[in-house]
Amino acid sequence: MSKPKLLTISGSLRKGSFNRMLLAEAVKAFGEADVTSADLNLPLYDGDLEDANGVPQSVQTLAEQIKNADALVLSSPEYNKGITGVLKNALDWVSRVGGMPFKGKPTAVMSANAGRTGGETGQFMVLSCLTPLQAQIIAGPLLCVAGAGNEFDEAGNLTNDHYLKVLRGKMEALRAAI
Ligand SMILES: Cc1cc2nc3c(=O)[nH]c(=O)nc-3n(C[C@H](O)[C@H](O)[C@H](O)COP(=O)(O)O)c2cc1C
Repeated sequence: MSKPKLLTISGSLRKGSFNRMLLAEAVKAFGEADVTSADLNLPLYDGDLEDANGVPQSVQTLAEQIKNADALVLSSPEYNKGITGVLKNALDWVSRVGGMPFKGKPTAVMSANAGRTGGETGQFMVLSCLTPLQAQIIAGPLLCVAGAGNEFDEAGNLTNDHYLKVLRGKMEALRAAI
């Protein structure tokens, strides 16, 4: 049997992003998979741009990656207690592509943040934004890595046993949902 296709989506564009580190850890916990990493570095959504030129190629690529994936894992920081502009912009663009790419797609959501709540408030906003897109959210304990600067070692590995346990449970459930 071919390996499941897993798409990782980071709500932070930063190379050294803790959310990218968390995604790398999620991929390890998921097990064998063909992994693709989404690029959310897209133009800002602008209805005039869409009218003039259609949906940009970078957005079409992202929508195709979502459609082709067996499962999605999305990790995003909160910015000022909300969804990052980068992630919201990507969701808005993808919603303009036909075929409802997120519909029924098993999706695990998590967050890592510098603050004490690990991005919980922003994560709820992400979940709320995914609702009209009809993603199939993996239910279960929230994974909100708080004080992220202290939870990864120099190689980017998550070191906290509690978070690792929640992450493994989530990824097991994601794999089972395919
Ligand atoms: C614009 C902005 C807003 C932020 N707002 C929050 C916040 O609401 N809560 C929080 O815990 N950290 C906040 N932070 C700090 C982030 O948690 C920290 O920069 C984190 O490393 C971002 O995730 P990343 O490492 O994946 O880029 C904010 C950072 C930025 C740049």
